[in-house]
Amino acid sequence: AQGLKGRDFLGLVDYQPDEIRYLIDLAVELKRKQKSGEVYQPLKGKTLGMIFEKSSTRTRVSFEVGMFQLGGHGLFLSKNDIQMGRGETIRDTAQTLSRYLDGIIIRTFGHRNVVELARGATIPVINALSDQSHPCQALADYQTILEHKGKLEGLKVAYIGDGNNMVHSLMIGASKLGIHFASASPEGYEPDANQVKLAREFAEQSGSRVDIVRDAREAVEGADIIYTDVWASMGFEAEQKERERAFKNYQVNEELAKHAKSDYLFMHCLPAHRGEEVSEGVIDGPHSIIFDEAENRLHAQKAVMAAIM
Ligand code: CP
Ligand code: NVA
Repeated sequence: AQGLKGRDFLGLVDYQPDEIRYLIDLAVELKRKQKSGEVYQPLKGKTLGMIFEKSSTRTRVSFEVGMFQLGGHGLFLSKNDIQMGRGETIRDTAQTLSRYLDGIIIRTFGHRNVVELARGATIPVINALSDQSHPCQALADYQTILEHKGKLEGLKVAYIGDGNNMVHSLMIGASKLGIHFASASPEGYEPDANQVKLAREFAEQSGSRVDIVRDAREAVEGADIIYTDVWASMGFEAEQKERERAFKNYQVNEELAKHAKSDYLFMHCLPAHRGEEVSEGVIDGPHSIIFDEAENRLHAQKAVMAAIM
């Protein structure tokens, strides 16, 4: 798309609704090309640095494979193995890497690290998950929903559980795409108030709604999609026990799902704690599309890279 080359991809918040929709449509198209065996290598000779400060299965593999399929090469840079882990500043790292690479992805804790890297770099930076957001996942999720439901506008997504990075990106995406969004979390674990405020502003423009409620059944009422994520995200492992207590009424199970539409879809970014935030029956049941969702990380991120790099 015109206007996307050279841009960072730090959050869906920075992208217009038509730009998000363009990336989703491109992801669908790149998926078709790959499945039909068509070679498409717009990034031939280009390189992507992949900085990881946290574990990853999907993000790491899908970016590295995606870059390869687009004709380029991805370099896995564990934070502990590069000098950043010994205190070299993000700014110096950004400037140095910009002399070698054509793009950088970063998975980190504080979102300000992502912003600082983008500020210091002269090449596009992609947010591969921060404590605040996970836009690559949300983009793949809306592609997955579009493929299963044939539309986005007017659907209802219900998110149950922790008010974390995942709910923020899903909520911002929904509000920009005209999707109704409801989330239910226990007290003290609600989504960030600033993110909710932003989403409500976008929702007003797209004609959708953002409801933040306490009761999981209320959120799920009439939903097309039920989405959940782990109760203790990366970096919060020490709180596992107290979170299990706080979230005990927030499991997505067959009983809760009765309140959704009969053709609801179950989604989870993965990895899952089976039997905690979701029952085995739901995650392995006929409504679950978790592996289509995981697959689409590849296609959605290829779309982002092809568009901005
Ligand atoms: N959903 C997701 O980002 O998975 P990984 O942590 O395995 O990358
Ligand atoms: N909320 C989870 C998402 C993992 C993909 C985490 O941050 O650990």
